[in-house]
Amino acid sequence: MFTGNKVAVVTGASQGLGAGIVQAYRNRGYRVVATSRSIKPSHDPDLLTVAGDIGDPATGRTVIDTALKAFGRVDTLINNAGIFMASAFTDYSEDQYRAKLSTNLDGFFFITQHAIAAMERQGSGHVVQITTALAEQADARVSSVLASLTKGGLNAATRSLAIEYASRGIRVNAVAPGIIKTPMHAPENHDFLASLHPVNRLGEVEDIVRAILYLEDSGFVTGEILHVDGGQSAGH
Ligand SMILES: NC(=O)c1ccc[n+]([C@@H]2O[C@H](COP(=O)([O-])OP(=O)(O)OC[C@H]3O[C@@H](n4cnc5c(N)ncnc54)[C@H](OP(=O)(O)O)[C@@H]3O)[C@@H](O)[C@H]2O)c1
Repeated sequence: MFTGNKVAVVTGASQGLGAGIVQAYRNRGYRVVATSRSIKPSHDPDLLTVAGDIGDPATGRTVIDTALKAFGRVDTLINNAGIFMASAFTDYSEDQYRAKLSTNLDGFFFITQHAIAAMERQGSGHVVQITTALAEQADARVSSVLASLTKGGLNAATRSLAIEYASRGIRVNAVAPGIIKTPMHAPENHDFLASLHPVNRLGEVEDIVRAILYLEDSGFVTGEILHVDGGQSAGH
């Protein structure tokens, strides 16, 4: 499949899932704009980086403007930037609440507005949110209502936008991971986190990348919440 003229935008791209997603799209020949707060300039002319807080509406605008100015289009947006804090409900501070909503929800909303406006002009596009299996399947061992509140919102928004844009050539999907081995999780917690999955192990970055590329290639799939979670959403 020739994808050399296509353009992907990836948020939360400095490490973990985001870095793997950037590499996967570059491997397919996409030109990529990658963003996060600490992301470094790239030596690859077909990989541009924009540093900024994704919760700031200006960051999303700059990222999409950069893609349009440098590469002329935006075919895919991967809304991957996100933070996770597990805590008892009554222990969350207001700062934690605001930070979580800013990164996980504002960070989705504003950049997606700009991306979808560009996709509408092109008549095609694909948006993917990275959510979490916990949003639909709470686990008594991991108190994480802010993950449910924000990523559950993204799951619902995925379906809503999929329907709003279905007849305009724009697909909107989500990948809902289990726990994946990334810098988000300290190695000393890996054994406990692995035990939260029926398959009794953590997922790998490649597991999520494969799901995203499946969605990318599947023109008849929209509004899908694709679980890649070692069986978590099936039961315990
Ligand atoms: N790993 C898992 O087990 C797991 C499970 C379910 C869902 N997820 C979701 O998958 C996504 C990626 O997770 P990950 O495991 O790769 O996490 P990670 O290793 O902690 O990476 C998070 C990325 O998001 C960026 N980021 C964080 N806050 C930001 C902000 N305010 N503005 C811009 N960028 C920001 C970080 O870069 P900077 O620090 O440079 O900004 C980094 O590139 C997240 O949405 C997460 O909720 C992960």
